[in-house]
Amino acid sequence: MTTRTRILAIESSCDETAAALVEDEIVILSSVVASQFETHGKYGGVVPELASREHLRAIVPVVRSAMRQAGLEYEQLSAVAATVGPGLVGSLLVGLTFAKALCFARNLPLIAVNHIEGHIHAVVLESRRDGHPVELPALALIVSGGHTHLFEVRERGVYRLLGRTRDDAAGEAFDKVGKLLGFGYPGGPIIDRLAPFGNPRAIPFTFAKMKGNTLDFSFSGLKTAVLRWVEARDMAHEIARRKSLLAENSRPTTNEWLQVTPPMTLDLLASFQRAVIEELLRRARVAADSMAARSVIVSGGVACNSGLRAAALETRLGCPVHFPSPTLSTDNAVMIAAAAFPKFRRGEFADLSVVAQANLVLA
Ligand code: KG4
Ligand code: ZN
Repeated sequence: MTTRTRILAIESSCDETAAALVEDEIVILSSVVASQFETHGKYGGVVPELASREHLRAIVPVVRSAMRQAGLEYEQLSAVAATVGPGLVGSLLVGLTFAKALCFARNLPLIAVNHIEGHIHAVVLESRRDGHPVELPALALIVSGGHTHLFEVRERGVYRLLGRTRDDAAGEAFDKVGKLLGFGYPGGPIIDRLAPFGNPRAIPFTFAKMKGNTLDFSFSGLKTAVLRWVEARDMAHEIARRKSLLAENSRPTTNEWLQVTPPMTLDLLASFQRAVIEELLRRARVAADSMAARSVIVSGGVACNSGLRAAALETRLGCPVHFPSPTLSTDNAVMIAAAAFPKFRRGEFADLSVVAQANLVLA
C-alpha cells in the first residue's frame, strides 16, 4: 500500500482567510476561501485591524470546512503548512498561530511558506496536473495587490530576483484608479470588466525610462497621469453616481456600472489597463530573453485580468506562458500547499517558534 502525503495549508496574509487540502502534490481535495470583500469594500482598501479581526472570526470555520469537504480527520494529515510572510503582520499571525497550535496538539510537522512562492506554485500544481509541466528555467511574473516581481526560477525552490516595482504594485494601481473613479475596492476586477467597452488607444499614457535596473517596474507615474486627467475634467457628478450605486448595492453588475460610466471614462479605463499590461509584458519579454526562459509563469490576483491573459498569449515571449485558473490566481491556500510539498520531501520543517514576517523576501 502506498502512503499518501496530505497537506493542510492555511493562508491569511491579506484579506482572505483560506484553507485547503492537497494530496500527493497535485490532487486538490478541498479549497475554502472566505473573502473579506464586504468588510473592506466601503473603505476603498484593506483596513489591517479589521482584516485581523475577520481572520480570527473565520479561521476555525474555514479550516473545519476544508477538512469536512476533503472528508479527512486530522490523524490522516502528513503536515500543516501556513503562510509566514510577506503580508500584513496581524493577518499572518492568525493563520500561522492556528497552524502552530494544530501542529502542537496533533504532533504534526509545520511548513512555513512564502506567499510569493505560493503564487508561483499555483501554476506549478495545475500545469503538472494537466500534463504540461512548466519547463525550467522559467520566468515568473508575480502581479498582485502587494507585489509586482520578476523572478528567474532555475529549479523548484531556487529563485533569483530580476526586477520589481519601485513604487506601487500593479494591482495597487488598479485599486487606486478604481477608488479614485468611485468604483470601490478592489478596482481590478471592475476595470477588467469595463475596459472592453472603451478604446484602449484613446489616451496615450507613456512610461518614463527606468534608470538602473531596466527590469524594474514603476506605476506611480501612470497613477498620477490618470489623476491629472481626471482633475482636468469635471467628473465629480459621475463619480458621485457610482458611489451611490455602490452604497445601495455592494456588487453592481457590468450593466449597472455601464449606466453610470460615460464613454469617455470607459476610454480612460481601457487606456489605463492597456498601459499597465504593456508595462508588464514589455519588461517580461526582455527578462525572458535575458535568462533564455523555457516558459513564463504569470500569477497573483492581476493574472485574472482578461486583457493581460489575451495580450500575454499574443506577445511573442518566445516560450509557452502559463496562467493559473482564476480561482488559483487570487489568494488561496491550495498554492500554499503546492509550495509546501517540495519542502515536505526535503524535510524542511519550521520550528514552532517561527514568527510572521511582514517583509519576507523570496530572493
Ligand atoms: O493575489 P491577490 O489576491 O492578493 C495579494 O497578494 O495582493 O491580488 C489582489 C489584487 C487586487 O489588487 C485586485 O485588484 C487585483 O489583484 N485583481 C485584478 C483582477 N482581479 C484581481 N486586477 C486586474 N484585473 C483583474 N481581473
Ligand atoms: Zn497574493
